[in-house]
Amino acid sequence: MQLNKLSAGFGAETSAFDAPFREMWDAFFAAQVLVFRGLRLTAGQFLEFARRFGRPEPHVIDQFHHPEHSDILILSNRKKDGQPAGLADAGTYFHTDYSYLEVPARCTMLYSIEVPKKGGDTLFVDQYAAYDDLPDAMQRRIKDLVALHHYGNRDELDRSSRTVASILSEDQEQKLAWVKHKLVRPHPVTGRKALYSVSGSSFGIEGMPEDEAVGLLDELKRHATQEKYQLRLKYGVGDVVIWDNASLLHSATLTDPEDPRTLWRITVKEERKT
Ligand code: SIN
Repeated sequence: MQLNKLSAGFGAETSAFDAPFREMWDAFFAAQVLVFRGLRLTAGQFLEFARRFGRPEPHVIDQFHHPEHSDILILSNRKKDGQPAGLADAGTYFHTDYSYLEVPARCTMLYSIEVPKKGGDTLFVDQYAAYDDLPDAMQRRIKDLVALHHYGNRDELDRSSRTVASILSEDQEQKLAWVKHKLVRPHPVTGRKALYSVSGSSFGIEGMPEDEAVGLLDELKRHATQEKYQLRLKYGVGDVVIWDNASLLHSATLTDPEDPRTLWRITVKEERKT
């Protein structure tokens, strides 16, 4: 597969949307973020592509599922008849998808339908590199720690803020519970160690007083989200991006709510808990 690097660290762009799947799988897990530019896909074709990577799981926010394919979540700041046409401001803080579920996400893919005049980029940070760069003493300290996760953004709980986790209905909230994930996880496919979900849904650490746990998670988050680990992805119409949730954190960026932005999103789960 012909690949063009998107940064010195990670991320690659390719036009080989029809490459043999084994090659695409290997290229994806090596690059962590893989981008295809300017495609024209129906919802069914996008879903067919996603299913090659594993089992998609519909998002808990079911009011914005695609009308024909519940595995597709519509991200949009558009309004239809005065009502939101999709989920706006989804994940505008560093997080990894479905870390609030017992079996989290393997990969997420977006298909870009409508690009705002200004901004609308997605940021990614490399959690392999962030882990590798930790001092030995910190790697030893966190090696066996287990983080406690719940749907939400640890840094913003104010429901009126645009950086709070998207608001759930009572029914949706009831579908979710506390789950546990190791703070340092061997990647389920590559085996390489990465920091896992130190920002977003991690609210505590098993067996540790809350203030100490949050202090440690905040310290790891500051380290893991530094600019040197970052990649900024800009979209054009028809772009498809797929990212590796086990080795990255990502964040949407806030845009002008009057400047239309629409994407379709599919999230594929890991096959088992690690
Ligand atoms: C997401 O976090 O799933 C959305 C990313 C984006 O809208 O840029």
